[in-house]
Amino acid sequence: KPVTTVLVNEKEYQSDDYTNITPKIISYLGRNLHLQKNHPLSIVRQRIVNYFYSSFTQRGNPAFSVYDNLTPVVTTKQNFDDLLIPLDHPSRAKSDCYYINRGTLLRGHMTAHQSELLKSGLDNFLMIGDVYRRDEIDATHFPVFHQVDAVRSQRKDELFRDKQDLHIFEPNFDPNNPQAFTNSIDDPMKQRCHTLEASKLMETQLKTHLIGLVKSLFGEGIKFRWVEAYFPFTHPSWELEIYYEYNWLEVLGCGIVRNEILASAGPNNSIAYAFGLGLERLAMALYKIPDIRLMWSTDSGFLTQFENVDINTKIRYKPVSSFPQCTNDMSFWLPPNLTVDTFMSNDFYDLVRDVGGDIIEQVKLKDKFVHPKSKKHSLCYSIVYRHLERTLTQAEVNQVHKEIEKAIIANYGVVIR
Ligand code: PHE
Repeated sequence: KPVTTVLVNEKEYQSDDYTNITPKIISYLGRNLHLQKNHPLSIVRQRIVNYFYSSFTQRGNPAFSVYDNLTPVVTTKQNFDDLLIPLDHPSRAKSDCYYINRGTLLRGHMTAHQSELLKSGLDNFLMIGDVYRRDEIDATHFPVFHQVDAVRSQRKDELFRDKQDLHIFEPNFDPNNPQAFTNSIDDPMKQRCHTLEASKLMETQLKTHLIGLVKSLFGEGIKFRWVEAYFPFTHPSWELEIYYEYNWLEVLGCGIVRNEILASAGPNNSIAYAFGLGLERLAMALYKIPDIRLMWSTDSGFLTQFENVDINTKIRYKPVSSFPQCTNDMSFWLPPNLTVDTFMSNDFYDLVRDVGGDIIEQVKLKDKFVHPKSKKHSLCYSIVYRHLERTLTQAEVNQVHKEIEKAIIANYGVVIR
């Protein structure tokens, strides 16, 4: 049914052909798990903030400002344009974001606030909050998660404290004529406008600070590795992975901030690094929390395990009890206007979650099939149901499964097999 306005955080927005935010998603706004006392996400947030406060002080005062109360409703300018994300970049797709309308969406990363905070004159700051992404459904993915993003800038005199003859910018870089370098090719090691010394010094600081952070959270023995990465708003860029339970786990993205972003924010006399890390990943690894949905639990069996503890104590989550899963398959023929390749699985996942709520543990594509004679296309998904706090009955699951079937018939005109 076409709705003409959407109400988000008590504000009305005009909807349009981009609107894909759902009531279920709107219901997560304002939970602010990262600020909830005794919540694992807020404990990790506090440890990260403490690390940065204690690592960087100026005459005994913290050299960082912390923003943890910024509204998740942002413009496409904040989330993408200001960060030099090209118009055809996949992260802008409707299938990846929750749009309120063409110009407004729920932020997909905390970096959405970077440019504005730089423009307001800040040079060292943390941005902490909830971010929203459309994704698959499993034990480590949830459409809402939390990030800590940071910017640390250095002026020449700070960066080269004892080597004042060195320079941040290449001699032929003209700050008054940025076009002179935006179209030129970067070196893989640094941006065109930066000197190698400046870029390498920042890179070393960035990596040292982040390794320090990971060690302060997981202990000195943590195994890690740097992986080269690409982000439109940093160059060079890296991802940090930690070795956890026999797997490499990506915990953060980082890099040297594109000078175009710093230059458009104000005086162009510094170099900066930035990073963004996911709080859920860290908390799940630190406390051995097996399912991301537990973060949203209001069950005292979960929450009391994190209550009134010193934030640096080793906590290991003990499953209250593990209730059984129940898996039901759903096979359907697609209508003639859809093929197994054009069917939007993320739309389907949102629909499943809208109808099924948080008892949906996982949705997996099991089979794609094109009938050799009729050329009809068919898909089969397995839906795994589990309640975190009680046993679901088969009858109850069948009921929800039927409701999901009804909803996909109504939305896509499929025929259940
Ligand atoms: N915003 C990026 C993400 O969400 C992380 C990042 C932040 C990378 C800052 C580089 C610099 O994946």
